[in-house]
Amino acid sequence: MGKRLAVVGAGLMGSGIAQVAAQAGYDVTLRDVGEDALERARAAIAKSYDRFVEKGRLEATARDESLARITTTTDIEAAADADIVVEAVFEKIEVKREVFTALDRICKADAVLATNTSAIPITQIAAVTARPESVVGTHFFSPVPMMRLCELVRGHKTSDDTLARARSFAEEVGKTCIVVNRDVAGFVTTRLIVALSVEAARLVESGVATAEDVDTACRLGFGHAMGPLQTMDMTGVDIMVNAARNIYTDTQDEKFHPTEGLLRMVTAGDLGRKSGRGWYPYGGE
Ligand SMILES: NC(=O)c1ccc[n+]([C@@H]2O[C@H](COP(=O)([O-])OP(=O)(O)OC[C@H]3O[C@@H](n4cnc5c(N)ncnc54)[C@H](O)[C@@H]3O)[C@@H](O)[C@H]2O)c1
Repeated sequence: MGKRLAVVGAGLMGSGIAQVAAQAGYDVTLRDVGEDALERARAAIAKSYDRFVEKGRLEATARDESLARITTTTDIEAAADADIVVEAVFEKIEVKREVFTALDRICKADAVLATNTSAIPITQIAAVTARPESVVGTHFFSPVPMMRLCELVRGHKTSDDTLARARSFAEEVGKTCIVVNRDVAGFVTTRLIVALSVEAARLVESGVATAEDVDTACRLGFGHAMGPLQTMDMTGVDIMVNAARNIYTDTQDEKFHPTEGLLRMVTAGDLGRKSGRGWYPYGGE
């Protein structure tokens, strides 16, 4: 596959994907709707490369060459010559559909059109294009330069060739892939973490154990790096509740139904680290 990548959406994930791809030798065009987002992305990428250089994991020349391979733009037409496009805009179906409608019009006939959605069925995104066989999920994890997994997700019409090319891309940028053969809500990873998190919340809410003890059980008993409630605070309680709702709507399976306590936390604004309080207090409290 050629080595021209377009990334649409220069937020946390888009900038991380641009960073690892440029380091792997891709010429990257990073697109966002505003210059401010692009500026933040450029600064975040440069800072992250600098940290790798400081740790001796990247040569200063490789950093400079990688940075030089990234071009930023507000013009979506810049995706025209890309061999692969990774979309990483807001997790909203309307926004993603708008982006894919444009990509379908703009991109080369043999381009791979990938989405970094964490939960939206690929088929729903692919359906707005005239080439659903070229659309695939490449679900990277945050922070992209550190996390080694890429969850490859097949839509209903994704071709074997598209999946294979998405896999090559993910492997070239240093990731190990798992394949999700049917784009069920939440794929594999979000389903697992939501089931664990909802059960963890249920155990605490029903007085069976404290939040600290549930997290300690997962860390010391299962070797998890973080407990599910600590993870939820980091991800955002609202994000987790939203994911749980989506999976519950798709499956009607009670184990994904957000607990009453989780819903109350969201209403009260206890969203985790970002609001200063979630399952635990933050910010010097
Ligand atoms: N944050 C995570 O931990 C994480 C992990 C895995 C997957 N994801 C998924 O990755 C995607 C991006 O998430 P994020 O956390 O990077 O979001 P973010 O909010 O940090 O960034 C989204 C960016 O998209 C831009 N944008 C919006 N509409 C656009 C358009 N039409 N064209 C170009 N840019 C546009 C926004 O300006 C913003 O800069 C979402 O689908 C999310 O579910 C996120």
